[in-house]
Amino acid sequence: MTLSELEIGKAKSLEEIAVAEGATLEALRVKYVGRNGLIPAIIKGMKDVPKDERPAFGKAVQAWKAEVEAALEARGGGSQPEAQVDADLTLPSNWRKLGVEHPLSRVIKESAQIFSRLGFTVADGPELENKFNNFTALNTPPHHPSMDRSDTFWFGEDCLLRTQTSPVQIRTMMANKPPIRVICPGRTYRRDTTDATHSANFHQIEGLYVDTKEKPVSLADLKSILAYFAKEMMGDGVTVRFRPHFFPFTEPSVEVDFSCHVCKGKGCNVCKQSGWIEVAGAGMVDPRVFKFVDYNPEEVYGYAFGFGVERIAMIKYGIPDIRWLYENDLRFLNQLG
Ligand code: PHE
Repeated sequence: MTLSELEIGKAKSLEEIAVAEGATLEALRVKYVGRNGLIPAIIKGMKDVPKDERPAFGKAVQAWKAEVEAALEARGGGSQPEAQVDADLTLPSNWRKLGVEHPLSRVIKESAQIFSRLGFTVADGPELENKFNNFTALNTPPHHPSMDRSDTFWFGEDCLLRTQTSPVQIRTMMANKPPIRVICPGRTYRRDTTDATHSANFHQIEGLYVDTKEKPVSLADLKSILAYFAKEMMGDGVTVRFRPHFFPFTEPSVEVDFSCHVCKGKGCNVCKQSGWIEVAGAGMVDPRVFKFVDYNPEEVYGYAFGFGVERIAMIKYGIPDIRWLYENDLRFLNQLG
């Protein structure tokens, strides 16, 4: 091949590339600069070019190659998919989507993330509990109705399916010294008849913060972390309301409402026209509970709270019937994908 033939070939290749697109462009890339393409073949055949012409010829071929590559690039066909894969086999492949996270798992995971930003870690406890942890140490009097056989699943005299995640408070305090800052998500059981808003097996997230009197924990602290949680979980604009209540293991005790995120407090079907949705019980840990776990009530302060996970999932995702959360109907579950 002579220099002038080379120039003719170059002009032709650039003309072809100038009007090519898509697959044609790729075919031209292979034809001219691919591994077995025309230009590499010419470069290989350079040894047959007379010695004195070789430098000029070499320069011309390299210029041709560069111009073809630039022209391919300019038309969007410059990348070489197989060459890229050859170049980096450590790149991750495309994973096929396997499923979606259940709304309850999602709320639990998100809650753990939110509270971890406030210094809380996750504690765990068994679903099969004894009477002391589930009732007695939580200052529940011996004949309290919640202990009744019609309310609690008992297995003999001293074994039951926990009715709340609060026994994890007791376990955590017995095993650690303050400061303690934990949340405990888990399953709970009550002998409730199932309907749109009740289930015999549901989930709670317990929270417990206990510190020494040098850093006295207050009700104001409780309110501020719940307000933070509400915002992070439900979005900006959600506010928190405390209503006086009674729990044997907290004093004072409150029920916690979030302002309805659907109607922004104006009143709608979700909040039953009240503008508020009840989501948790909470309060300052009762001194008697501290005594049960061998803490000196004069030395420590603490707050505790317990959320219903189903409650939060239902209002967050607009789920009208609690049973949908347990039926494993893919038409329902896939909507969260
Ligand atoms: N355990 C209570 C319930 O199940 C909720 C709660 C937790 C209240 C912690 C106060 C403190 O209703």
